[in-house]
Amino acid sequence: MQKMKQNSSVWHPNTQMQEWDYFDKIVKGKGMWLIDSKGNKLLDGVGSMWCNVWGHSKKELINAIIRQTKKIPHSSLFNLTNKPSEDLAKKLITISPNMNKVFYSDNGSTAMEIAFKLALQFWKNYGLDNKTKLATLENGYHGDTFGAMSVGYVPEFFSKFKKQLFSTTQVPVPNRYRLPQGFSFDDYQQHCLEKIETLFSTNEKIAAFVMESGAQVAGGVIIYPPGFQKKISKLCKKYDVLLILDEVATGFGRLGSLVEYHAQDSVPDIVAYGKMLTGGYLTMGATLATKKIYDSFLGGFKEMKHLFHGHTFTGNPIAAAVANENLKLYEKNKLIKKIQNTSKIFEKRRDELNQLDLVGDVRNKGMLMGIELVKNKKQKTPISPKKSVNKIIFDEGKNNGIYLRTLGNIVMLVPPLAISTKELDLLIDRTILTIKKTEKKYDL
Ligand SMILES: Cc1ncc(COP(=O)(O)O)c(C=O)c1O
Repeated sequence: MQKMKQNSSVWHPNTQMQEWDYFDKIVKGKGMWLIDSKGNKLLDGVGSMWCNVWGHSKKELINAIIRQTKKIPHSSLFNLTNKPSEDLAKKLITISPNMNKVFYSDNGSTAMEIAFKLALQFWKNYGLDNKTKLATLENGYHGDTFGAMSVGYVPEFFSKFKKQLFSTTQVPVPNRYRLPQGFSFDDYQQHCLEKIETLFSTNEKIAAFVMESGAQVAGGVIIYPPGFQKKISKLCKKYDVLLILDEVATGFGRLGSLVEYHAQDSVPDIVAYGKMLTGGYLTMGATLATKKIYDSFLGGFKEMKHLFHGHTFTGNPIAAAVANENLKLYEKNKLIKKIQNTSKIFEKRRDELNQLDLVGDVRNKGMLMGIELVKNKKQKTPISPKKSVNKIIFDEGKNNGIYLRTLGNIVMLVPPLAISTKELDLLIDRTILTIKKTEKKYDL
């Protein structure tokens, strides 16, 4: 692999820079493979941070970008509109039950910020000034901006900013692998739902409940039990609490359905999309709202009910054009069906991974797998958070020709959605090899 020994000015995300004396320089992508400047190939197990759909050189997506760039690369949605954004909004509304309007942004975090602002202002628009609090599931993640950090508060990441964050109310989430003592999984799930109901019935300030749709991804691939999200959705309706669902990581097929909240039989008031919306080729977020939400923002100008939010690149025509092409390809290639088939490989091979000494638990749904590494399998002892597991797994993975990134002690397999069965098998073979080598070489 190409070494960039210290002539780089780039500061990398979520990275202790002192630990890395070089970063492999990716110069090309071909299908599911990343290729560095020396021609070495890495099978992409991360899907470019979970957003890649078709692999790295999908000609239809590249052509959509070129076509739109030649027409108009950027014209904003401030006082104007553009065809790709209009078309995309129409399409998103069609595929997203109950949704009525689309507010564009640049990424998942901003899509969530907009969701929070919509929900909080919704109540104000109706003169209900006391509905000011957001409630959420523990362990959720919604991005790295201040609102997103407040709502998806992960102490290991964000404790340094705690004083600057706004307060939220968190309720527990059922994690089958790490249940509190004395609970069965079913009992604990019920316990979590009761906590939510108690909160809603005793605290009139709760404006909205925020959760990832289908599963918590960054929180360690915690897949909700069937019916859990639906029950929360019903509680929200019962107590007049808005439901904000974050589909940034789980929508568009990652969990095996195009729209995860629909698959979960839940009814959000606001939903956020990102990552795979553009096939992973350009940056775009979208926050969708129901008519009820949208209508509350209407009024005479002097009422000042409109939403004070907008980004320079809101509704960027190239991003919208590539998203439109991406969604056409979903239909043309029956991608959701393909994911449902290919992901059976994860099911089939989960036990092989589970048998490894270093592996405590394996969780998967659709094209997503989390492999939790532990210090002691029997006692489920976590590896110290001070161990740099990501760097070790990345280095060992690279030696085996795969690109991996862990979240803490969890090896994430989040390949491009259209990966073939053969390539997914190869990714799993090489992941097993990587974990075995790690077991042998390191005292974690
Ligand atoms: C569920 C969820 N929401 C929001 C975000 C933030 O998205 P972005 O990194 O595009 O800001 C992420 C990112 O991983 C995510 O997983």
